[in-house]
Amino acid sequence: MAIIQFPADMKWGTATASYQIEGAYNEGGRGPSIWDTFSKTPGKIVNGDNGDVACDSYHRYEEDVEIMKDLGIDMYRFSISWPRIFPNGTGEVNQEGVDYYHRLVDELLANGMEPMCTLYHWDLPQALQDQGGWDNRATINAFEAYAEVIFNEFNGKIKHWITFNEPWCVSFLSNYIGAHAPGNRDLQLAVNVAHHLHVAHGRTVKRFRELGTEGQIGYAPNVEWNEPYSTSQKDIDACRRAGGWFIEWFFDPVFIGAYPDFMVDWLEKKGVSVQIEEGDMEMISQPIDFLGINYYTGSVGRFKENEGLFDHERVDQGYQKTDIGWNVYPEGFYKVLTYINEKYGTIPIYITENGSCYNEGPVDGRVRDEGRIDYLKQHLIALHRSIEDGVNIKGYLTWSLLDNFEWAEGYSMHFGIVHVDYRTLERTKKDSFYWYKQTIGNNWFEV
Ligand code: BGC
Repeated sequence: MAIIQFPADMKWGTATASYQIEGAYNEGGRGPSIWDTFSKTPGKIVNGDNGDVACDSYHRYEEDVEIMKDLGIDMYRFSISWPRIFPNGTGEVNQEGVDYYHRLVDELLANGMEPMCTLYHWDLPQALQDQGGWDNRATINAFEAYAEVIFNEFNGKIKHWITFNEPWCVSFLSNYIGAHAPGNRDLQLAVNVAHHLHVAHGRTVKRFRELGTEGQIGYAPNVEWNEPYSTSQKDIDACRRAGGWFIEWFFDPVFIGAYPDFMVDWLEKKGVSVQIEEGDMEMISQPIDFLGINYYTGSVGRFKENEGLFDHERVDQGYQKTDIGWNVYPEGFYKVLTYINEKYGTIPIYITENGSCYNEGPVDGRVRDEGRIDYLKQHLIALHRSIEDGVNIKGYLTWSLLDNFEWAEGYSMHFGIVHVDYRTLERTKKDSFYWYKQTIGNNWFEV
């Protein structure tokens, strides 16, 4: 038996995103987003699901805040739906949309929880996509204008801000692999999108400071850990590229003000390059206050000629897998955190997402999700090890509060610590909810 005790000032929380939970897709003056379009395109989403209703949190946010109060969290990370604020992406502010988030934030504050707000968790207004989306630098201006409205509205109420959630997904997954909205398959386009997200991030951080907005701002890239299969240089290099796609490509511009040479050279061999304009890199590398890290999984891999974009293949080590098929790899969590800390310096880090997919539902009113409890324990041990090693962890926010619209997987994959019955929208707290509640209450757990 051992006690895993967390620092006294550790913040505990949960995370969600607008399109995944809100529903009310055509209410309150909301305009269409790229996810409305994509999810209604046949063949894109498992079972043809969409976010029209989702968890209906737009109407049930008070109940959801009540659930979080019972959980005892310090912090709730949610995202604002840009098309609720600007139904056409630019132009007139839709006050009804702004008011919804005031109600939500007020409810959180009244119940003793701090809001952490993500400005972009993937629901780009469709009107902007129609003009090229993130491939068009005009979208950067539109994003800055949207962010400015939100900063002014919520200054003093929201103290933790995140510009972008998972820029790798917004660029490569959505525009090269094509699995997410808008579903393009074009590597040069994806590289352009990644660069424009970086510039939009920098411009927004700069604006945040100029406006004198209270609080802290950061961003939340998703990382994986890629462990080399052997000590051969070829395996090490292949893993470095596979990992660099997530880490260096999105961290170096922000922390160092340059794209990583080893990745730039490799991508040039694939015929693509970053189109950098004068002043971009200075803009991108504005100092940020904290880093959000989303971590779910990792793998062991090795060199294989012509395999994928990076001559890299995964080698299954027989790790346990969650129901979505991802390795349970807590060692990778520890390694990635210590790697980032060594490479980019000791910046305050919030784990803005970490969680697992297990699909069991209620049996006699109870959800026995042992797998999720086990995943949480293993990842919190890894996190604790990183804290012991000097990584500056400020908080841990599990993904997700609720089962919700899991993007291309629709409602078939469940990440919540609270089960949602999609017919009745009834919420049922899972066993993992009670385990997490106890851990938060104690600030430690026993293994
Ligand atoms: C995203 C979430 C998503 C989760 C599980 C992250 O990629 O930020 O929106 O639901 O992982 O796939």
